[in-house]
Amino acid sequence: MQKINIPLKDSYDCFVGEDLLKISGEIIKDLSKAEKIMIVSDDVVFSLYGETLKDSLKKSGFITDSFVFKNGEKQKNLDTVRNLLSKMIDFNMTRTDIVVALGGGVVGDLAGFTASIFKRGIKYVQIPTTLLAAVDSSVGGKTGVDFSGLKNQVGAFCQPLAVICDTKTFDTLPYKQYICGAAEVIKYGVISDSKLFYSLKETPIKENYENIVSTCIKIKRDYVLKDEFDLGDRMFLNFGHTIGHAVESLAGFSLTHGESIAVGMAIISSKAAEKGFCEEYVKTDIISLLEKYDLPVSTDIKKEKIAEAVSQDKKTKGDTLSLIVPVKIGECKIENIKKREIKDWI
Ligand SMILES: NC(=O)c1ccc[n+]([C@@H]2O[C@H](COP(=O)([O-])OP(=O)(O)OC[C@H]3O[C@@H](n4cnc5c(N)ncnc54)[C@H](O)[C@@H]3O)[C@@H](O)[C@H]2O)c1
Ligand SMILES: [Zn+2]
Repeated sequence: MQKINIPLKDSYDCFVGEDLLKISGEIIKDLSKAEKIMIVSDDVVFSLYGETLKDSLKKSGFITDSFVFKNGEKQKNLDTVRNLLSKMIDFNMTRTDIVVALGGGVVGDLAGFTASIFKRGIKYVQIPTTLLAAVDSSVGGKTGVDFSGLKNQVGAFCQPLAVICDTKTFDTLPYKQYICGAAEVIKYGVISDSKLFYSLKETPIKENYENIVSTCIKIKRDYVLKDEFDLGDRMFLNFGHTIGHAVESLAGFSLTHGESIAVGMAIISSKAAEKGFCEEYVKTDIISLLEKYDLPVSTDIKKEKIAEAVSQDKKTKGDTLSLIVPVKIGECKIENIKKREIKDWI
């Protein structure tokens, strides 16, 4: 097991290793005086891992209840938050009790946000069960739900009490979910760690979960420490995402998030090489690694459509866009461009 500390004001540890679910009760007992724990999960994850978690929490003396909703992004909304809040009230939870999120990013974002507003904020623990949630959403304290057809419009920055990542749970991930997480792992390699990047070629992620997840968490931690509230440096984590988000929505969500950002990373890297920001091998290495993980590196969607969607992205402010551009493997730079110039980057 590896333990990574995130030394923010509310400092917390991320525990990464095999079979941690079985000892999650003990880990939480060391950190909290809670009597009651509300387990939040989706139907798929709960049916696989709910009992193991419940048993472990009960063995450590906690009284548990569970709130299980249908899996999928569609449920990441205020109605589900409201239902969860009602269940927490019925369970007579106090301010010292806690919520445990067992699942992927949807569960983590929703449970974390609900915890952050229940009785003005109670603690929550993340137990990520997707590779994406382990390396990305469970660390950094961004919580929230979708609203009015837009992603993550309502939320809060709220750091968890702990992150417990049982890498054994990834064994049941559908292949698409695995490669979706792989895209984020590759992203970390490109923006800050060439050793990680090239190791992914030699050893498949699934054969080295503990080390790879721990490395990614450390990289994310360093960006979060520089920029807890996502006002500057965290921007590097958006490598491939500006174009990726546009591709994701234009593809009518037929591509997963990971597949879309893979296309985004491939497009930006090709243009970076063409424009002389990096050498040709940087593009070739990025594209061949994405392909190794069966991720797409191009799209049929017309360049003009992507450009239009990028400039209409509500996340971008004013007339400028900040693109994250690879300089070499393990290093990127921020390139500020005018929105109308985005066509030249696709
Ligand atoms: N908070 C952040 O910083 C942050 C960062 C990135 C993404 N996100 C959010 O994360 C969400 C995407 O996360 P995700 O990809 O984990 O999606 P998800 O939570 O929807 O999980 C994907 C699917 O995998 C299933 N699943 C989960 N774990 C499983 C397991 N171990 N075995 C079998 N099936 C399993 C789920 O039931 C679901 O159907 C999005 O809502 C996104 O906005 C948040
Ligand atoms: Zn992403």
